[in-house]
Amino acid sequence: MSTPQAAQPTAADITPHKGKLGIMIPGMGAVATTLIAGVEAVRRGFAQPIGSMSQMGTIRLGKRTDDRTPLIKDFAPLAPLEDLVFTGWDIFGGNLYDAAKTAAVLDRDQLDQMKPFLESIEPMPAAFEERYVKRLTAKDKKVGKNKCDLANQIRNDIAEFKTKTDRQVMIWCGSTEIYHEPKAVHQTLEAFEKGLVEDDPDIAPSMLYAWAALKEGIPFANGAPNLTVDIPALQELSKKMNAPICGKDFKTGQTFIKTVLAPGFKARQLGVSGWYSTNILGNRDGEVLDDPDNFKTKEVSKLGVLEHIFQPEKNPALYGDIFHKVRINYYPPRGDNKEGWDNIDIFGWLGYPMQIKVDFLCRDSILAAPLALDLCLFMDLAARTPALRGLGIQEWLSFYFKDPDTAPGVYPEHDLFIQSMKLKNTLRHIMGEPLITHLGLDYYGE
Ligand SMILES: NC(=O)c1ccc[n+]([C@@H]2O[C@H](COP(=O)([O-])OP(=O)(O)OC[C@H]3O[C@@H](n4cnc5c(N)ncnc54)[C@H](O)[C@@H]3O)[C@@H](O)[C@H]2O)c1
Repeated sequence: MSTPQAAQPTAADITPHKGKLGIMIPGMGAVATTLIAGVEAVRRGFAQPIGSMSQMGTIRLGKRTDDRTPLIKDFAPLAPLEDLVFTGWDIFGGNLYDAAKTAAVLDRDQLDQMKPFLESIEPMPAAFEERYVKRLTAKDKKVGKNKCDLANQIRNDIAEFKTKTDRQVMIWCGSTEIYHEPKAVHQTLEAFEKGLVEDDPDIAPSMLYAWAALKEGIPFANGAPNLTVDIPALQELSKKMNAPICGKDFKTGQTFIKTVLAPGFKARQLGVSGWYSTNILGNRDGEVLDDPDNFKTKEVSKLGVLEHIFQPEKNPALYGDIFHKVRINYYPPRGDNKEGWDNIDIFGWLGYPMQIKVDFLCRDSILAAPLALDLCLFMDLAARTPALRGLGIQEWLSFYFKDPDTAPGVYPEHDLFIQSMKLKNTLRHIMGEPLITHLGLDYYGE
């Protein structure tokens, strides 16, 4: 007996994007201000949304001979940038013009062009616990009798924002929290909600925001490597509320390059004996990551990628003995302009060794902002799409993450090109277009 096939989704199933899309951001530092100022700059025609697949990417439909390659934003019903409204939380108070000046990512002249707009957004007081981000001290934080009270204060903030917008998504652009592993309190929603009332120390501030968003039926994306929604309790809530979640830690600089190069070596059957990656970074993120407990969270997220791309257990002769090391050094003079070096020791035919050196002089938040934008738009699309919203984890958005989330027992895809194909095929699928397999034999038939 064959298993019943789910009906092929069509574009008509997707709820249209009428009205304002509210973007709620816990952590309004370098990435958040670069995202918001950037969206406003694009809306006002000052700049192009470079790096954003949703805005500049195209998608091929049908056969190569059909010549149908629209922009993704003209194909999928994404919210237009004109309809985005921003709010968020931070521990520093002030307004976003001041926050953007502190972050020092964008030129002062460019910021001044958008000064009234940026001044009009003031972060709300944060739910913050110093223990989770040791290098920062809060000026402006919520006070409550326990974590349940703090999380409910966030829900009240969300409820207020819901009166001004039609749909909402939340994206964590806050600091990297200390490393911690799932405990009993994270295993079920019931245990988690009991833990909120009992002020359980293993419930991190980022989890309070995620719980509040999901409880309100709002999708949640995670730009940092924090544990946050990677726990059964919040995955259960995500499915129950039809509120999508996805992976963690924006894949921007060094890891982005790593997941471009490594699939190339693997495709050519070139061996790798060592991959040493180091960075200097001088922004507030670099300062937070200077603490070993916070760095550990980032390190775990960065180390996973090679293991999954190379699959050393299946290719022991080529990848069975790799020495992989990742370092981040806080170096204030560079600010947001990170420098990442990679030394890659590879070997070829008969085992002869070769080396590759990469020196990436990048701009951290310039790389991250378009990813944050795409995630907001695609998570909103997922929430409006019956074929996606009840799934919980949106694996098709792995493209954006160092540490993609997957169903239990399914290994994550880290290869950037597989991720890109997965994303585009998911868009084709929900819009009722044939998937592209790249088989192409039909071009050569009679
Ligand atoms: N820029 C990149 O390329 C990149 C790539 C991957 C991941 N990330 C991650 O994105 C996050 C943001 O990076 P950034 O460069 O904007 O850092 P940032 O330090 O400039 O901004 C983070 C902000 O979060 C705030 N914050 C911390 N805890 C909070 C809480 N509980 N509630 C509300 N606000 C809180 C801080 O006060 C700070 O203003 C970091 O976790 C970083 O590791 C960045």
